[in-house]
Amino acid sequence: MTDKKITILAIESSCDDTSVAVIQNSTILSNVIASQKVHEIYGGVVPELASRAHQKNIVPVVQQALNQSNVCLSDLDAVAFTKGPGLMGSLLVGTSFAKGLALANKLPLICVNHMRGHVLAHFIDGQYEEKPKFPFICLTVSGGHTQLVLVKNYLDMEVIGSTIDDAAGEAFDKTAKLFGLPYPGGPLIDKYAQEGDENKFKFNKPQIADFNYSFSGLKTSILYFIQQQEKGNSDFIKEELSNLCASVQKTIIDILFDKLIKATKEYGITQVAIAGGVSANSGLRKRLQKEGKNRKWDVFIPKFEYCTDNAAMIAITAYYSYLNGDFTDQSVTVDPRLKIGL
Ligand code: KG4
Ligand code: ZN
Repeated sequence: MTDKKITILAIESSCDDTSVAVIQNSTILSNVIASQKVHEIYGGVVPELASRAHQKNIVPVVQQALNQSNVCLSDLDAVAFTKGPGLMGSLLVGTSFAKGLALANKLPLICVNHMRGHVLAHFIDGQYEEKPKFPFICLTVSGGHTQLVLVKNYLDMEVIGSTIDDAAGEAFDKTAKLFGLPYPGGPLIDKYAQEGDENKFKFNKPQIADFNYSFSGLKTSILYFIQQQEKGNSDFIKEELSNLCASVQKTIIDILFDKLIKATKEYGITQVAIAGGVSANSGLRKRLQKEGKNRKWDVFIPKFEYCTDNAAMIAITAYYSYLNGDFTDQSVTVDPRLKIGL
């Protein structure tokens, strides 16, 4: 038995953040993120601009991640990258760079599923006294996905429920747009909600079968409600912004928790985690803590830096793939619609 540590450099470029991390076993040595401001004025991510910004950022971000971790290329045991899901052009930049780096340095290559990465971020050291035990349920909520994931093992996950239309992050972002807030609006709704009355306005919740979600109806009902109110008071949004944000946030969280609670009962599970960009939401984090206390769950709420897109989560997933001998070769390509089970 050798106690040699495994050192991996991981690249995440699935959407609009260029991120590179260096991990040693399950300890993160560096996690550098270059966010792209260029999309703000368009009210959403513009794919072509995203891939161009990745191309500009990738070399300096890799360099910075290596410098911060005090690791040189010759110390690496593997190079990892996000294969999907995500934007085709964005994924291609990280994938091509990782392939080139691995080839030039004769290193094994590991491809990672971005959604698995969000879930496995819980296993990065320095977050919990005890890490989650299998099986657990992870409510994975991001800008592109809303999934209830039954996590049976590090590399064995099953989606037991997902959105049939918009993702939870999209519900936050599209609502923020209706309120005149810039992209991405989720963090701003969170900020204004802290000053507001969450019970002031009521919005209808969808009736969807099984453990699935739907958020497009909520967006439409908010739009109609605002249009109605603005007929009588053109300053309605300005005057009620905090109460509107608090009420919308509560509605989204209620929708998410109705199905989460149902799933824990059905599967008899008391280990419950949240992951993905929306898990940075303060209302969602508080609610999980509250439900955990009342229902005697062990809850897992990731550090903020591991909620929104980051390469540390890709690195930890690659570490478990490495232990499992899951390597890929130079013929690998991106898969914008990659499913979590693959
Ligand atoms: O996981 P992520 O960084 O990227 C994707 O894989 O999509 O998630 C981004 C999403 C965006 O919709 C953003 O508005 C949302 O996460 N988000 C939040 C908060 N922070 C990020 N939503 C609500 N409250 C927050 N504090
Ligand atoms: Zn993500």
